[in-house]
Amino acid sequence: MKDVYILAIESSCDETSVSIVKNGKEDIATTINSQIDTHKLYGGVVPEVASRLHLENITLVIEETLNKANMSVSDMDAVACTYSPGLLGSLLVGLESAKTLSLVYDKPFIKVNHMMGHIVANNIDQTLEYPLISLIISGGHTDLIYMENENSFKYVGQTLDDAVGECYDKVARILNMPYPGGPNVEKLALKGKDSYSMPNILNDDSCNFSFSGIKSHVNNLVHNSRQRGEDIIKEDVACSFQNAVTNCLVNKTLLALKKYNVSNLSIAGGVASNSFIRKALTNMCNENGIKVFIPNKKYCTDNATMIGAAAYILYKNNQFSSLDVNASSHEELNFKEKE
Ligand code: KG4
Ligand code: ZN
Repeated sequence: MKDVYILAIESSCDETSVSIVKNGKEDIATTINSQIDTHKLYGGVVPEVASRLHLENITLVIEETLNKANMSVSDMDAVACTYSPGLLGSLLVGLESAKTLSLVYDKPFIKVNHMMGHIVANNIDQTLEYPLISLIISGGHTDLIYMENENSFKYVGQTLDDAVGECYDKVARILNMPYPGGPNVEKLALKGKDSYSMPNILNDDSCNFSFSGIKSHVNNLVHNSRQRGEDIIKEDVACSFQNAVTNCLVNKTLLALKKYNVSNLSIAGGVASNSFIRKALTNMCNENGIKVFIPNKKYCTDNATMIGAAAYILYKNNQFSSLDVNASSHEELNFKEKE
């Protein structure tokens, strides 16, 4: 079969990213323009600012990527872009750019769900095996998904309130650390002990998650101590929080693997770059005879390579999109069957 080159665009949140991906696996060239330094000033992503920065950068990022690969859009077999979920204004910038390139260069257009991109990030340096359970842990999502094959998604569990990454960001803020908080909490936790008691996180027999309770608990713990003039040991708070969250992720993932009698697990999303969580999930898999797939850390947080990898699956299945497709802030994966 002839080689397939896809130009992929990702702009769902605060990263403007463009990638050229060969056969869904080979990262020919990727550029990521991160807006973190700007959003840091406000303690989190400001949607209006994000879309404006995407607009300023998108053409430059496309050009830079094509230059790195020494290729032109005419060398591509398709143009792909994230259309959902994400911030509407941000998504629109990538989507309209991709649709324009598709129209001008007469290339097929492929819309990609961001969450599918996160899962398929695992295909870049390895090859996913099915059936599998996928745990997606990001700033906006905490999902357990059963996949019978590369193109079928069944939601097994979801967070009932906050996403795990969002909770990390909030805990970082409570501990006076900048956005994005996840990596900072992870670093701090390394220096601490599990000395603070944390609430049980939705310790039931469902595969759902709930992180708002632990978030409020950390908030109350820190504020009440400050009001009483008592010192808190930040490192220990971070460590106790991370242990509790990780235990919950491990237990619920094991439950999903057992419920569906599946022996493959894939982990994805920004929080999957957390070494402590990676190790805990890997240990659980080793103890239970489960094969675990985890992306290289650089493909865990938002990037366009994962969108190109996912677009290749849709390309092979002739799942092209018309140019009247719109961005959607919250659309779940295709082929979803509710339990
Ligand atoms: O997947 P992602 O880049 O964007 C979304 O689609 O949401 O995930 C970003 C989230 C942020 O909440 C960030 O704090 C979290 O992933 N994150 C981490 C780590 N690195 C990024 N959380 C915990 N530990 C990390 N090392
Ligand atoms: Zn993401």
